[in-house]
Amino acid sequence: MKRAVITAVGHYVPDNVIPNSYFENRIETTDEWIRTRTGIEERRFAPDGMATSDMGVRAIQDCLNSRGIDKDEIDFIIVATVTPDYIFPSTACIIQDKMQMKHPYIWGYDVSAACSGFIFALETARRLVEAGASQKALVVGADKMTTITDPQDRTTCIIFGDGAGAVLLEPSDDENTGIIDSVMHIDGSGLPLLHMKAGGSVMPASLETVEKRLHYIFQDGQPVFRAAVKSMADAACDVMQRNNLTGEDIAWLVPHQANLRIIDATASRMELEKDRVMINIQRYGNTTAGTIPICLSEWHKDGKIKYGDNIILAAFGGGFTYGATYLRWGIRHSA
Ligand code: COA
Repeated sequence: MKRAVITAVGHYVPDNVIPNSYFENRIETTDEWIRTRTGIEERRFAPDGMATSDMGVRAIQDCLNSRGIDKDEIDFIIVATVTPDYIFPSTACIIQDKMQMKHPYIWGYDVSAACSGFIFALETARRLVEAGASQKALVVGADKMTTITDPQDRTTCIIFGDGAGAVLLEPSDDENTGIIDSVMHIDGSGLPLLHMKAGGSVMPASLETVEKRLHYIFQDGQPVFRAAVKSMADAACDVMQRNNLTGEDIAWLVPHQANLRIIDATASRMELEKDRVMINIQRYGNTTAGTIPICLSEWHKDGKIKYGDNIILAAFGGGFTYGATYLRWGIRHSA
């Protein structure tokens, strides 16, 4: 069986930088509280009129340009998002059309797994590539979180930001690189703690749902925090154990960027030094499905990931959803 290897990465973040001080005169909070409780210093807000698909397109262009791949070679596109352009059609369809991707057998769809969306989508694409059903699969994590974040809710509005990342997956005979193993979980009992109340079939949109501000993220922060710390570390340690890896074998942990304290706890359970953890939450906040591919893209561009590096991706999100992926980096830096 062939391995599925990440052969290109790209990302996009909006230009508009929103420092913590932005919130200080709008809600009851302080820069100091946000920094110490979350690790966030600033985030990016996408402008009105820029949809999730537009950020996805920019991330894909960055990804394909870095490898000189023509858009028409893409035969599968999977988009992880909880802020799709529309409930339907899928953001994957919209991106395909916006980019005029013309592979005769291109197909794809969206995945809804909140902050674990990127690793769930990667896992799905990996299986298709390994099975020979896709030769060039695009995995996109993109979210315009500002569209579902209540600017009056101080417990959530300070956390989230907008952004997108994309990776290209291709089959390879190279045993030394590619996605090696993964563990993925869902636990639907997490629903009451993290969800959006209205806009679905349970509570369709109405004047009342808008007036009651029910089209925004609802989060009960503390229990979610505890579940995130446990689940992300459990998944990461599980995938390490299954592959006989110790902390010393890992070049990089790429954690979902929800809260610096969750990241630190996960790294500590894995017995990893902090200089081997990708952290950019201070600059972007939580971009949901965007966090992990944005990290990979930034670290790759900076030349900090070496060919053959052992990398663990780990995420936790609404659902609950959580998991970890073990891969060996397959891009030579000159590529
Ligand atoms: N500024 C100032 N005070 C704030 C605040 C803000 N922006 N948000 C909340 N507070 C207050 C609370 O009201 C509370 O006050 P009280 O003690 O008077 O009731 C106090 O700060 C502590 O609140 P708490 O919720 O315990 O804070 P916390 O340390 O748990 O941090 C989160 C809150 C949301 C940052 C944290 O719980 C978290 O990161 N949760 C998990 C997020 C996550 O992983 N989500 C998963 C999907 S990505």
